[in-house]
Amino acid sequence: MEQITEQTTIPMPRIGDKAPEFKAVTTQGDINFPSDYSGKWVILFSHPADFTPVCTSEFMTFATLEKDFEALNCKLVGLSVDGLYSHIAWLRTIKDKIEYKGMKNVEVNFPLIEDITMNVAQKYGMIQPGESSTKAVRAVFFIDPKGIIRAIIYYPLSLGRNFDEIKRALVAMQAADKYNIATPADWRPGDDVIVPTAGSCGTAKERMEDHSGDIKCYDWFFCTKAMPKE
Ligand code: BEZ
Repeated sequence: MEQITEQTTIPMPRIGDKAPEFKAVTTQGDINFPSDYSGKWVILFSHPADFTPVCTSEFMTFATLEKDFEALNCKLVGLSVDGLYSHIAWLRTIKDKIEYKGMKNVEVNFPLIEDITMNVAQKYGMIQPGESSTKAVRAVFFIDPKGIIRAIIYYPLSLGRNFDEIKRALVAMQAADKYNIATPADWRPGDDVIVPTAGSCGTAKERMEDHSGDIKCYDWFFCTKAMPKE
């Protein structure tokens, strides 16, 4: 007779949700998430497995960019379902042996969570059985200083992430929060930004008729302006 086992389905976190809480052991000591990161942005990201090539290229890239994220008030936290000793051995190998695309002696100073129980990976929807039931997919969670999930990107196992895009997304969300603007397709820092449709910049008609040069309107619903100065 077929045995029916009860399976609990954990809902995937969504944009706008509070980041699920957890305590974990990491390569930098224990963490209490997200409260240890209150007041900072955090990028919580998962990788499928230690000692694999795509993940190694990603870790070297992320570690090299860590200071850029630090300057943006953003901490990095990695995770895989490997154990702590595997993490430590892999990161030591990266530092001691791997030279890749001009990066060498790369030290990973941000915490890498051990998640052999898959407790955290399950909470964050990082285990996607259609792709793998034994490894986390490449998830990227952007969590704001109030502990709210602001953006999520998932990639399959075979696809290394674009860290330029991860940084761009962070800078764009920070600009949106600070200046009450939105950012158009392929926006890069310094490019023009989108003026909100209603509110602080006058009515649609006023904006269409504003030829002062500050605001450029393509139609009543689509206006841009220069990125506000600090
Ligand atoms: C990698 O990082 O190279 C990798 C990991 C798991 C599956 C496929 C590739």
